[in-house]
Amino acid sequence: MDNRANLMDTTGQNVTATPESDDPAAGMPQGGILCVVGARPNFMKMAPILRALESRGHGVPVTLVHTGQHYGSDMQDAFFTQLGMPVPDIDLGVGSGSHATQTAEIMARFEPVIDSACPRAVLVVGDVNSTLACALVAVKKNIPVAHVEAGLRSRDRSMPEEINRLLTDQISDLHFTTERGARDNLRAEGIADEGIHFVGNVMIDTLRHHQRHAIPTGQTLQHYGVDEVEAITATGYALVTMHRPSNVDDPAVLENLLGTLERASERLPLVFPVHPRTRSALEASRMPEARRYPIALLPPVGYLEALGLMSGARIVLTDSGGMQEETTALGIPCLTLRHNTERPITIDEGTNILTGNDRDRILDALDDTLATGGKAGRIPEFWDGHAGDRIAEVLCALYAQDAPAERSTAI
Ligand code: UD1
Repeated sequence: MDNRANLMDTTGQNVTATPESDDPAAGMPQGGILCVVGARPNFMKMAPILRALESRGHGVPVTLVHTGQHYGSDMQDAFFTQLGMPVPDIDLGVGSGSHATQTAEIMARFEPVIDSACPRAVLVVGDVNSTLACALVAVKKNIPVAHVEAGLRSRDRSMPEEINRLLTDQISDLHFTTERGARDNLRAEGIADEGIHFVGNVMIDTLRHHQRHAIPTGQTLQHYGVDEVEAITATGYALVTMHRPSNVDDPAVLENLLGTLERASERLPLVFPVHPRTRSALEASRMPEARRYPIALLPPVGYLEALGLMSGARIVLTDSGGMQEETTALGIPCLTLRHNTERPITIDEGTNILTGNDRDRILDALDDTLATGGKAGRIPEFWDGHAGDRIAEVLCALYAQDAPAERSTAI
């Protein structure tokens, strides 16, 4: 279980702190805000909040805790470096495991951090196991929880993330939302209006902040030793990602999707960075073979590489939550290989189309997009690069209040 992260700084030095005390929060400020990250999509969400808190925090002490749910150079280091994230103050080094083991381990390791740091609030983002685990520890110790990306619902309780979203929102005091419909979802679950703040989308803060540094596709393909760089960039390509358990854990479903990708490669080249979960599943499956155009399989890529691959694509095929939003912000057509989405604004206003994992639906939507250039979208309200500032403003205003924190109303 202990896959302790080895964070590198930009010079390649290992900068993971060596604990000199059994107290995981030794030397950390007391009474501040504990900000939690755990998995890849959390890093992009937390980076702009940390930046905003630093620039307008007026001395609000902030401690960054990394649970270590994702680890290693592909899934973690590249993101911390490229996003300019500070090295975490505390790294719980939890690593992989079943849902129960991973969640329990995060909780057990986070509890002494809370005991020692006595934070005024715990800030969690997104919907991964680390989000729920840390929120649950905090609420049971009467520490207010603030949840960024609250109120998103797929209504599909077979998704681990939907369970994480529902439960985290129920035990949070502050709910920061990315789209207006999220408030209705929260209200319907009995959550009071006072703690709900529509702030916009922190993923898009990160996208706008780093857009001009996106790494061009040709450079990424060359870096990973892909032979057909010219053929891929000249024709234009589809970017493919998938890692949802519902798509990759069942061999029959995965086989069908791989067959669909083979057929898609009759239309255009594919670039497919493969998530570790998917790689394990692919090892037991038949790798897709290119029909007319190449299929470039890459390892998981960093944030700036992913941004370049998305920006340069003719279309994106994905089951990621974040990429549905990023393609909407970039105006790139997106086919979501799921039957539902917790981010309906990307369909109502953005460039996203739900295809599920049905081969004909995916290929029809692909053909239609390639023929027409795809669905025109617009940028949703408050996806403007300033969501982190709005969150920091709320947190700092509440922090500045003299009254002691009262649960369910404020921090
Ligand atoms: C997790 C999130 C998912 C998010 C995704 C982004 C949950 C329930 N799921 O899914 O919402 O979209 O991250 O990546 O929290 N592995 C590695 N290296 C790593 C991490 C994982 O090799 O750094 C492998 C391990 O074999 C592990 C498997 O990937 O068992 C799954 O990892 P896990 O964190 O459990 O879930 P993800 O599928 O990554």
